Amino acid sequence: MDIVNPKVESYVTDLVPARDPALGAVEDAARSNHVPMVGPLEGQALYLFARMVGAKSVLEVGSATGYSAIWLARAARERGGTLIGMELDSGRHAEAERNLASAGLAGIARIVRGDAFEILPTLDGVFDLVFVDLVRQLGDEDRLRRLFELCASRVAVGGLLAFDNVLHGGEAVTGSTAGGRAADSLNRLIASDRRFVTSFLTIRDGVALALRVEG
Ligand SMILES: C[S@@+](CC[C@H](N)C(=O)[O-])C[C@H]1O[C@@H](n2cnc3c(N)ncnc32)[C@H](O)[C@@H]1O
Repeated sequence: MDIVNPKVESYVTDLVPARDPALGAVEDAARSNHVPMVGPLEGQALYLFARMVGAKSVLEVGSATGYSAIWLARAARERGGTLIGMELDSGRHAEAERNLASAGLAGIARIVRGDAFEILPTLDGVFDLVFVDLVRQLGDEDRLRRLFELCASRVAVGGLLAFDNVLHGGEAVTGSTAGGRAADSLNRLIASDRRFVTSFLTIRDGVALALRVEG
């Protein structure tokens, strides 16, 4: 199921300004090598969300080759801030580090290699924006619930939590697959959490955007 009419999606994507050579190269390589990435429409939206809350500290869970990390780290840089990402796959992790360096972000952003479930409990403090891009990779209700708890507690009051792919190709709506039903449970969990005010945006595969309003 297309979440957004493909012509509408293509129209608004064409309105995203041309990417600079460093970001454009990561985008092209990800497309050619079938590496998952948020793409320009959502990348620019993430940049915008980070700028809107003046994010200085950004956490990314699921970095692949660093495409979304570049958008987010550039927003953090505007405030003299930093980004920490994480990536399980060692090849993608190495490529992400190279791509961030090519984009001039080596001193601002670093990607930790390893399993988010092991890394998250070891991190100190809270972040102004936490972006989670693992929903399709997990597809399991208990793991998604655990991931939500680990990430929600890392968001500063006044900060944003963004979960990508929450519509799961429409399967969260139809309930036709286990992954879709797991995404639906995650969405209900986020929507009912009183620490956050949440909206579900139909950008690409769906983004849950939650502002932390209570401690
Ligand atoms: C959708 S991709 C991330 C795309 C990236 N955010 C972007 O737009 O450029 C999800 C990534 O999470 C990684 N991943 C899967 N399970 C993970 C885990 N348990 N911990 C850390 N990373 C994981 C995958 O290897 C994959 O590269």
